[in-house]
Amino acid sequence: MLKFALEKLRDQYDFIIIDCSPSLGLITVNSLTAADSVIIPVQCEYYALEGLGKLLNTIKIVQGRLNTELAIEGILLTMYDTRLRLANQVVEEVKMHFQEIVFDTVIHRNTTLGEAPSYGESIIMHDASSKGSINYLNFAREILQKNDMTNMTNEDKSNIFSDEL
Ligand SMILES: Nc1ncnc2c1ncn2[C@@H]1O[C@H](COP(=O)(O)OP(=O)(O)OP(=O)(O)O)[C@@H](O)[C@H]1O
Ligand SMILES: [Mg+2]
Repeated sequence: MLKFALEKLRDQYDFIIIDCSPSLGLITVNSLTAADSVIIPVQCEYYALEGLGKLLNTIKIVQGRLNTELAIEGILLTMYDTRLRLANQVVEEVKMHFQEIVFDTVIHRNTTLGEAPSYGESIIMHDASSKGSINYLNFAREILQKNDMTNMTNEDKSNIFSDEL
C-alpha cells in the first residue's frame, strides 16, 4: 500500500526518505517494497555486523520476490569513535567485505547528535556547526554526487570526504 501512496508523491520531490525502525518487521518489508534504494546505517560495534547480515538477507528476499528494482544506495558507518580499536576493526571489516558500496563519509560519534532529538530538532537546526552536522551535510553531498545531482568538482569532493580516520 505504501508503494501506491508514494507513487502519487514521486513527481513532487527529488528524494523521499522513509525512516525505518531497526527491527525487520512488516513495516520495514513494506518500505523496502516501495523504495527505489536503501541506505543502511551501521553502528561501528560488533553486534551491528550481525544485524547487517540479517538485513542483507531480508533485502535479497525482497529483491527476489517483491521488488526486483530495489538497489542498495550504500552502507553508512555511524557512531565512529577514533579512540576505540573495535570501531576501527568494524570499519576495516565492513570496507573489506562491502568495498565500494560503503559510503566514503563516516558519521563520528558526537554528543550533539545524541542531544538534538530531545529538543525535537534536526541536527542542522540544533547546532549547524557541530561535527555531527558537518558529517551529515557531507553525507548529503555524497548522495547528491553519486546521483549526479551536483556540480561539485572531483577536487571539492576529495577535500570534503577525506575524513581523518
Ligand atoms: N551520538 C551519536 N553520534 C553519532 N551518530 C549517532 C549518535 N546517535 C545516533 N547516531 C546515529 O544516527 C542515526 C539515527 O539515530 P536514532 O537515534 O534515530 O536511532 P535509530 O537506530 O534510528 O533507532 P530509532 O528507531 O530509535 O530511531 C543512527 O544511524 C545512529 O547510529
Ligand atoms: Mg531513528
